[in-house]
Amino acid sequence: MNYVLVTGASAGIGETFARELAKEGENLILVARREERLSALASDLMQTFGISVETLAADLSSPDGVNQVIKAVASNQWQLRGLINNAGFGDRGQFHELSVKRQLDMIQVNVTSLVALTHYLIDNLRKTDNSFIINVASTAAFQAGPGMAIYYATKAFVLSFSEALHEELKASGVSVSALCPGATSTEFAAEANMTNTRLFKSGAMSAEDVVREALTKRGQAIVISGLRNRLMVWLGKFSPRLVTRRLAGWLQA
Ligand SMILES: NC(=O)c1ccc[n+]([C@@H]2O[C@H](COP(=O)([O-])OP(=O)(O)OC[C@H]3O[C@@H](n4cnc5c(N)ncnc54)[C@H](OP(=O)(O)O)[C@@H]3O)[C@@H](O)[C@H]2O)c1
Repeated sequence: MNYVLVTGASAGIGETFARELAKEGENLILVARREERLSALASDLMQTFGISVETLAADLSSPDGVNQVIKAVASNQWQLRGLINNAGFGDRGQFHELSVKRQLDMIQVNVTSLVALTHYLIDNLRKTDNSFIINVASTAAFQAGPGMAIYYATKAFVLSFSEALHEELKASGVSVSALCPGATSTEFAAEANMTNTRLFKSGAMSAEDVVREALTKRGQAIVISGLRNRLMVWLGKFSPRLVTRRLAGWLQA
């Protein structure tokens, strides 16, 4: 039996990935900290779609959380067909005024744990035909973000890492994509203190639209969600970095 492992599956984009993949008949391994949410989602998906769903309550802001996931996959001999590195969070504010612990936790969740999970699970994924990795980056990956300096930097890392891996793994049958959503209606904005920013007040995509597009375009190196975001990224390519970073800072206010 093959599984798709989704991190950050207790809410938002990750939960939506779980629901959409369940519709496709995929068996799932759901990872996040909030165990009750994962269990409720698992019961719902097993009952509705007749698939197998495993849950793992793990905190990916620590290496222990990653080890827990790796050990569970190995000891249960779960064969993976997909890995969706989606868990992540942001934190708005001036870098020097924000909690340094929260910034370092963000690097751990958004970057270090994503890299570790990918590294440990690649051999497993290579054993299945047409397997895939989707790393959730952001349109934040394309420029610096004053007012959210660390978050933007983590997403730039995810984009660069995923693009390189896309090429490295091409011949092995594992496709790698960086998914780059713009503002999306989830719990993210409240968690990141962004609800009242120009960015979120100017409109957000639904998680369903983001995820359906990501799954349709599975295998592409970079998937930017929605026409408006694609246009913004494209225009950014022709603008000086001074302009794009100041625009990002303005949108964050
Ligand atoms: N929403 C947006 O506007 C937007 C735009 C671009 C990119 N993104 C990216 O999309 C991804 C998903 O975000 P979302 O919008 O769906 O936000 P969300 O609704 O807040 O969901 C975040 C998910 O990440 C999990 N998570 C957070 N910290 C974790 C930790 N320490 N250990 C394990 N899991 C953790 C949460 O689960 P628990 O709290 O249960 O642990 C939750 O399931 C993130 O990588 C985010 O950066 C979001």
